[in-house]
Amino acid sequence: MDFKVADLSLAAFGRKEIQLAEHEMPGLMATRREYAGTRPLAGARIMGSLHMTIQTAVLIETLVELGADVRWVSCNIFSTQDHAAAAVVVGPDGTPDDPKGVPVFAWKGETLEEYWWCTEQALQWPDGGGPNMILDDGGDATLLVHKGAEYEAAGAVPTASADDPEEWKIILDTLRRSIAERPGRWTEIAKGIKGVTEETTTGVHRLYEMHKNGRLLFPAINVNDSVTKSKFDNKYGCRHSVIDGLNRATDVLIGGKVAVVCGYGDVGKGCADALRGQGARVIVTEIDPICALQAAMDGFQVTTLDEVVGIADIFVTATGNFNIITAEHMAKMKHQAIVSNIGHFDNEIDMAGLARVEGIKRNNIKPQVDEWVFPDGHSIIVLAEGRLMNLGCATGHPSFVMSNSFTNQVIAQIELFTKTADYPVGVYTLPKHLDEKVARLHLDALGVKLTELTKEQAEYIGVDVQGPYKPDHYRY
Ligand code: NAI
Repeated sequence: MDFKVADLSLAAFGRKEIQLAEHEMPGLMATRREYAGTRPLAGARIMGSLHMTIQTAVLIETLVELGADVRWVSCNIFSTQDHAAAAVVVGPDGTPDDPKGVPVFAWKGETLEEYWWCTEQALQWPDGGGPNMILDDGGDATLLVHKGAEYEAAGAVPTASADDPEEWKIILDTLRRSIAERPGRWTEIAKGIKGVTEETTTGVHRLYEMHKNGRLLFPAINVNDSVTKSKFDNKYGCRHSVIDGLNRATDVLIGGKVAVVCGYGDVGKGCADALRGQGARVIVTEIDPICALQAAMDGFQVTTLDEVVGIADIFVTATGNFNIITAEHMAKMKHQAIVSNIGHFDNEIDMAGLARVEGIKRNNIKPQVDEWVFPDGHSIIVLAEGRLMNLGCATGHPSFVMSNSFTNQVIAQIELFTKTADYPVGVYTLPKHLDEKVARLHLDALGVKLTELTKEQAEYIGVDVQGPYKPDHYRY
């Protein structure tokens, strides 16, 4: 088996945590039981690009139990939990000397070159073929396949311009080398893919954009916009893991501090709630009047970053947008202000601009925590080099919430793989009855007793006793 992880001897520890997580992931375990006899993913070759954590290990092993042949990478250079990666490679029945699990190419602290190399490896099966399904988080695997096929069709990989971000140059180099090694490979891979299921807001934006421009090559299911994903993982998951990231990175007391949350979408709502729960005075920035009004009515001050940049102690960006905190902002911050991002990509904070400030010095405190000292002597503390801090500095979302997200992922994989003809190229969400099913699978574990509609009540409100209970446009 080909794979590359940090240390296979961590597998036993990883396995113990996977076993604990299984109990906390009732949706995934129920899905395993439901499909034990039919193995609907037999024949699926799934390439996954999603944070290689303990929770993801339970997802991977669920896909395998349902019959899939899987290869995996992390979708961020800092988010891999090395014991989880080791346990997945070793598998439940293997040993570090005789691994019998799933090929994983991921370790905590990859370089960007290594990151794209890993993505390329996971898209290439030892028999020379590619995947027929992608499970993506943020869209990097989908991007590599699309760009590869596009440049093969054009006959050349373009040269990056001096203004392009460093990472784009690396992507182009990766494609140039891989096409030189085997011309036509990306076109072939793209042709073989039945579909992709996308985990996060940012990846979903990319998919709709590609579809709008007529560039999407295979159908996609937008898992993020299942209610049981974005209204749970993005919100309650971040409510948990934003504090975890801050604590593990800095252990600074949050109570009494001024915290700024940029963006009051699902992620921002969870972060603002959590910071307030710790006793911080939370200030929100927004560009959308609806979300701004929501934040105000939830009791938060809403203003611009420029207004408060000099008084806040903690900054968290959660916009999915870029250049939210600029180098000029950071220069104006208080001494030892903490600057962090929980959005998917690292361009919410202008790290390149910060590094270019004349006379600035970077003082590494520990992995994923840097103090940046300005020439005037004051400094700021940047978490995870501007990458998502909850996975870079802590262990991301806990199992129970990820069980909701990942049950949607498994259902979406089964949908696209087994009902390919029903999904022409386009971007789809799962039907509401499946969303409700995912929620239902998580009720018992929390001791929830659901009220059942009577037939008359169901008729009165115009729904079926078995659901769906809400129209598609309902917003929760
Ligand atoms: P969302 O679209 O619900 O919320 C983003 C909010 O930011 C919107 O309300 C938007 O109006 C606002 N915004 C955009 N530009 C802004 C600006 N310049 N200043 C202030 N506000 C601005 O998206 P969601 O679901 O909250 O996701 C946000 C990001 O977090 C995405 O990149 C997503 O992929 C990522 N994500 C990260 C997770 C993690 O564990 N770290 C988990 C889930 C999502």
